[in-house]
Amino acid sequence: MRNNKIAIFASGTGSNYDAIIAAIQAGELDCEVALLVSDKPAAKVIEKAKQNQTPTFVFDPRQYPDKAAFEQEIVEQLQVNNIEWIVLAGYMRLVGPTLLHEYEGRILNIHPSLLPAFPGLDAIGQAARAGVKITGVTIHYVDEGMDTGTIIAQEALPVTNEMTEVDLQKQIQRIEHKLYPQTIQQVILHTNRKGN
Ligand code: GAR
Repeated sequence: MRNNKIAIFASGTGSNYDAIIAAIQAGELDCEVALLVSDKPAAKVIEKAKQNQTPTFVFDPRQYPDKAAFEQEIVEQLQVNNIEWIVLAGYMRLVGPTLLHEYEGRILNIHPSLLPAFPGLDAIGQAARAGVKITGVTIHYVDEGMDTGTIIAQEALPVTNEMTEVDLQKQIQRIEHKLYPQTIQQVILHTNRKGN
């Protein structure tokens, strides 16, 4: 029997973390954020997690010999906390085989472009510099590639000539904060219904 405990992996300001917590509190998302994992000890999201009493696992990758070593420790933390789903929200690292093997098909990521356009770092800046007239947000399953897993949801955003990169970022984030909780809810419900 599956539970709906999720771990959020984040290393930034945590606006998506906030949006997920708000959706749970509003009764729109039926899950529990049972762990926050961060690879950046100074990340703002860690303070937010502490204020919300979300348990945290914060690590510094430089303290480990390799990715397999820190991912093994992450897996142990996930298992101790009974985590069923991993939700990446600004975790800027490729997920390696150690984590993928344990959580196959149960790792989601959000990316601020219409994939497969503009994968990797600074997707909003990449789109702005390319002068595209439409960009957006993608939510996808995570595989071993860089933002390459199966796409679950996308929402487009028209880009006008007047928009600065800051405007673009604000509007992308507004979409993210709505689309991520909705999509997490759909994926969890659908998977539980199938009895996986
Ligand atoms: C989000 O915009 C997310 O799409 C992006 O990091 C930001 C985290 O913001 N992720 C990626 O670019 C993944 N390749 P937040 O810390 O405010 O949630």
